[in-house]
Amino acid sequence: MKKWFAVIGNPIAHSLSPYMHDTWLEEQHINASYIPVHVEEGKLEEAVNALKLLGCSGWNVTVPYKEAIIPFLDEVDNSAKGIGAVNTVVKTGDGRFVGYNTDGFGFIESLGPIDQTNRILIIGAGGAARGIAHAFKQLDFSHIAIANRTYANAKRLVEELQIGQAITLEEAEATIAQFDVIVHTTPQGMKNNTATLPIQLSQIKEHAIVADIVYNPLVTPFLEEAKKYNVRTVNGLGMLVHQGAIAFTYWNGVKPNTEQMVERLTEQLGGNYVNR
Ligand code: ATR
Repeated sequence: MKKWFAVIGNPIAHSLSPYMHDTWLEEQHINASYIPVHVEEGKLEEAVNALKLLGCSGWNVTVPYKEAIIPFLDEVDNSAKGIGAVNTVVKTGDGRFVGYNTDGFGFIESLGPIDQTNRILIIGAGGAARGIAHAFKQLDFSHIAIANRTYANAKRLVEELQIGQAITLEEAEATIAQFDVIVHTTPQGMKNNTATLPIQLSQIKEHAIVADIVYNPLVTPFLEEAKKYNVRTVNGLGMLVHQGAIAFTYWNGVKPNTEQMVERLTEQLGGNYVNR
């Protein structure tokens, strides 16, 4: 039987994952398909049972089901457990369904080679920040700070994950020169979000990397600001591609071409991408 994979979410119609995975499957001469599945509110359990029944070999999970899917899986690996969210489900040889979270590791891979001694600043304390902070911790980065508009939320995250320190946005701005990697995870800068930048970067160090998890627009206002200081900037497309590549490797046992995929998607999105 032809294998098939899926991504479940709501909304899902504009997901880039089907294009990405179908392209990789073709490149690797794997006889399989990858389809988007829109799951209605309240229908997650039925949808998961249907995927299992119909022989799905593995699937990605996106908003709003990353946490809710956990009870319907046979096992959840340590990173997904620590984050409390699953974005990839793998069917094992003996027919069990195991949940992983590849978002944080995907994000870190998208930065290219970085050193564990690098000092990391994460701005924002929502679900995305949580996944990324957890991955940095698992990779033994020792200097991790989380800065957030609501300090209490940063503090809670730091305590839950037992990492680094929580700071205010003002403290982050005042100490920005200490950080090697600055990760912006707030929705500020997404389409139709006109709020001001969470921090200014005028004191940023020369060889810092500034990353945003957003790829619509490809250059967010935060990255636009960073570009003024000639530092390296990384948009969210790399995270999308690398989290997908890790999932693809779990499912198919081969690594797909990530660099070329980032180029293809950048070309496709070409500045006027609108995520409806
Ligand atoms: P996700 O789960 O996708 O990461 P989220 O849960 O909506 O997104 O997280 C949003 C994060 O961005 C929160 O840390 C939020 O700060 P608060 O804890 O104070 O709510 C932060 N955030 C949202 N809009 C922001 C803005 N305009 N400026 C600064 N921080 C913002």
